[in-house]
Amino acid sequence: MAKNTPMLHKLLLSLFFAFVVLTESAPETALISQIPGFTGTLPSKHYSGYVTIDEDHGKKLFYYFVVSEQTPSKDPVVLWLNGGPGCSSFDGFVYEHGPFNFEAGKTQGSLPTLHLNKYSWSKVSNIIYLDSPAGVGFSYSKNTTDYKTGDLKTASDTHTFLLKWFEIYPEFLSNPFFIAGESYAGVYVPTLAYEVMKGISFLNLPQELMPAIKPILNFKGYMVGNGVTDEEFDGNALVPFAHGMGLISDDLFEEVTSECQGNYYNPLADSCESRLAKVDEDLEGLNIYDILEPCYHNTDAREITSGNMRLPASFRKLGETDKPLAVRKRMFGRAWPFRAPVRDGIVPTWPQLLNSNDVPCTDDEVATSWLNNEAVRKAIHAELESVVGSWDLCTDKILFFHDAGSMITYHKNLTSRGFRALIFSGDHDMCVPYTGSQAWTRSVGYKIVDEWRPWTSNGQVAGYTQGYENNLTFLTVKGSGHTVPEYKPQEALDFYSRWLAGKPI
Ligand SMILES: *[C@@H]1O[C@H](CO)[C@@H](O)[C@H](O)[C@H]1NC(C)=O
Ligand SMILES: *[C@@H]1O[C@H](CO)[C@@H](O)[C@H](O)[C@H]1NC(C)=O
Ligand SMILES: *[C@@H]1O[C@H](CO)[C@@H](O)[C@H](O)[C@H]1NC(C)=O
Repeated sequence: MAKNTPMLHKLLLSLFFAFVVLTESAPETALISQIPGFTGTLPSKHYSGYVTIDEDHGKKLFYYFVVSEQTPSKDPVVLWLNGGPGCSSFDGFVYEHGPFNFEAGKTQGSLPTLHLNKYSWSKVSNIIYLDSPAGVGFSYSKNTTDYKTGDLKTASDTHTFLLKWFEIYPEFLSNPFFIAGESYAGVYVPTLAYEVMKGISFLNLPQELMPAIKPILNFKGYMVGNGVTDEEFDGNALVPFAHGMGLISDDLFEEVTSECQGNYYNPLADSCESRLAKVDEDLEGLNIYDILEPCYHNTDAREITSGNMRLPASFRKLGETDKPLAVRKRMFGRAWPFRAPVRDGIVPTWPQLLNSNDVPCTDDEVATSWLNNEAVRKAIHAELESVVGSWDLCTDKILFFHDAGSMITYHKNLTSRGFRALIFSGDHDMCVPYTGSQAWTRSVGYKIVDEWRPWTSNGQVAGYTQGYENNLTFLTVKGSGHTVPEYKPQEALDFYSRWLAGKPI
């Protein structure tokens, strides 16, 4: 009898864990039944909750899953990642392509009112918003050593998340699967795609050599918007951007070009450095996320700088969005990759960079008040403040290392193996300017199969695109800032749905 106890104990323990895993993640318990702030009928099902990716550490990633409003069983499943590092993917959910438009509450901190977003990406896809890595948004670990992390660990953790997620939602396993993100997710997306590719690459091997990576994801491709990619290309992008946009003089452009010899990302001579400082002076006061948008210098969001007001009215109009509610007011933050591209080593998060707990550059009031509301957290199955702390758009909880180097080799590996890639760029973003993305996609050396041409949305030119062999597509969105679906929601839904469907954009 006594001899059997440990085994019985073990059995009970594993039953207990199986039970915990099931109750924690089964879709019935993950289903969201009502959403505070929204009084209508949801056009599709919403699920949310945690997936434990490391039992020993109690490391859990939070996801919010919006089922497609079209044909859930056939439409692609898309994983969405915001960047930072340290920024929550609720940025995309609340401000970009989520199912709702958020109208600020009447008083400070009161609950926002939610309206359906007619340009939601859930119109054509099943979409997973994931807070990653642990420590970001609602994701957390009981062992805080996990908050020191980097590109490679984040990619393998997110891969673990995906494998577990598809086990919980096996009915979506056969749908085409895509990975998407923007800004620092320019690193998250290709590194994760590479993990996923490795996980399924045994498909060509004989049966007996197959490793046991299950389930097998039906991975098709990925998209990156205004994505951090390569120290040199991103770092050299600003000067030509500033000149092309009419922000610096021809004289200064000629001087800086000859003094720096095209090397702006790593200035070697003082004469180059001093010309670059002059470029900075000219750009000071602009909103780095959209040079056409007003610039807010503090959280009171009161001042529009004279620099912006000097723009002619027609120019200001260009920066406006057809989103029914105002895009966020952003402050100027002189930070990466603006004259400080992401390099190997520690990548400071926004709060770390500005040495402040306030989220820099961004008015995140509506997201902050909604996601820190207790009723909202209960409704969406997020832990309360006592467990995960307050929700911040971008956190300084993590210490993040850029340890995966340039993304260009990743893009080559992935596209040469048949995975489709869309590299899109809001062409008025100065944070990760389109000039860098245009240059690196060209540098890959693939043959052009769809020569530079305008693409249209709603009967208007919406930007330009160039298609390369191996299904590598570069695309600009005219007049858009850093977060494309926030500034140009209709155009964004158009290229998104065409590209996902494999149609010409
Ligand atoms: C946290 O994780 C580290 C690294 O795995 C480990 O050495 C440490 O013992 C853990 N701490 C706790 C409290 O479990
Ligand atoms: C990509 O492919 C090249 C050549 O096959 C290889 O050297 C490299 O290690 C691969 N992986 C990455 C992440 O670039
Ligand atoms: C490009 O994508 C299309 C649509 O998915 C596919 O049919 C085609 O084989 C791909 N081409 C290459 C070179 O991978």
